[in-house]
Amino acid sequence: MCMALVKIREILDGRWENQTVSVRGWVYRKREGKELIFLLLRDSTGVIQCTAKKASAAWSEAERVTIESSLTLEGMAKQDKRAPGGYEIAAEAVSIIGLAEVFPIAKDKSEEFIRDIRHLWLRSRKMNLVMKVRAEVLEFSREYFKRKGFTEVSPPMFISAAVEGGSTLFGLKYFDQDLYLTQSSQLYLEILIYSLEQVYCIAPSFRAEKSRTIRHLTEYWHIEGEWPFADMNDLIRFEEGLMEHVCQRVAENCQKELQELGADISKLKAVKAPFPRITYTEAVERLKAKNPALKWGDDLGYEDEKVLAEEFGKPFFVYDYPTAIKAFYCKTYRDRPEIALSVDLMVPRIGEVSTGGAREEDKDMLIKRMKEQGLKPEDYEWYLDLRRYGTVPHVGFGLGLERLLTWMLDLDNIIDSIPFPRTTRRFYP
Ligand code: 4AD
Ligand code: MG
Repeated sequence: MCMALVKIREILDGRWENQTVSVRGWVYRKREGKELIFLLLRDSTGVIQCTAKKASAAWSEAERVTIESSLTLEGMAKQDKRAPGGYEIAAEAVSIIGLAEVFPIAKDKSEEFIRDIRHLWLRSRKMNLVMKVRAEVLEFSREYFKRKGFTEVSPPMFISAAVEGGSTLFGLKYFDQDLYLTQSSQLYLEILIYSLEQVYCIAPSFRAEKSRTIRHLTEYWHIEGEWPFADMNDLIRFEEGLMEHVCQRVAENCQKELQELGADISKLKAVKAPFPRITYTEAVERLKAKNPALKWGDDLGYEDEKVLAEEFGKPFFVYDYPTAIKAFYCKTYRDRPEIALSVDLMVPRIGEVSTGGAREEDKDMLIKRMKEQGLKPEDYEWYLDLRRYGTVPHVGFGLGLERLLTWMLDLDNIIDSIPFPRTTRRFYP
């Protein structure tokens, strides 16, 4: 007989009802009765309840099987209202592939322990679902960039000069030279716009960030875009378009995952451009009641951003920041040099998920800004060349993938949005 080897999802979708199937996977849970053994079996696509009767040929192997053992199981797929997912397999044969030792997570499910054995916790339903949605967010982001005529490029991770200031820079020995890990691919994207115009990349960024918050990693994935002949309005419209596209597509395509994760789908469906926009000055005014110590010119802290975001209850932009708190490359208003053409995208609970802006395209202004910030223009010769040879007004932004996911999926902590989180204390495995 030729038996169909199927994925669990297909059975849960009702495609194999009353047919004999074969599934391969791992034992997620096991419950033993006198006459019946219940196995919850998982594969990449889902979890299904399987039962083995004492009288069946499956019994002796089902008895021997342990949590996380890998196996092949054959049996009749049946609808069963009592089974989680509505279907179950009445096992006729079980064949163990790899018998598992006592699985540590079965005993200890404390948060601390789960983080210590990340390599095993990644098998959990939660991480399985998060990783699937993460992959979709990447896919839909690429889809949007592509639709808008952007070319994906691959910038380097080893770099020789800081983008976002020295305090969060990771240094490393590169043979006998001192190099750094990149904090943002922006400056490299700026190079590439002179060849490809609209460019983007999705790549790691590194921050020697001592902050231990629910929104900080030391290694994160950065979705960055850059393009010429554009202004702040173009930038904001692009960013809100990207957010809307990703949220709508995920809400449509990942309903099952979102439901099982307990994420709020209606929140994603509500993400529609245009988003509210307020200036930094307005933000400070609004915040004064709750934070009297805040003065114009101070950077907004995480707490400030959270308070603002709570008022909006959805994504919004804050723009026109003080030049003094922004990076050297930010363009400033010609008649108001104290204000930078910079914009942050904020979401509830997380605060900032993206920073973007117009880049200073004038060589002399750029050199002046570098000197004000204590940077050596000679370290950025190639960057200045871009202003020497055919300079253009241009804009760009960087969106933190993990911050976005933490918000989209209502995760408690950013570390659950990435399979192998790197923080001040965690880098194993
Ligand atoms: O605001 P940042 O530092 O801006 C830049 O790096 C620009 N050069 C980007 C650009 O214009 N191309 O970082 C951008 C985003 C933040 O808004 C945040 O979402 C994320 O990167 N990010 C972090 N995510 C997780 N952990 C950290 N330590 C992060 N630091 C920044
Ligand atoms: Mg920022």
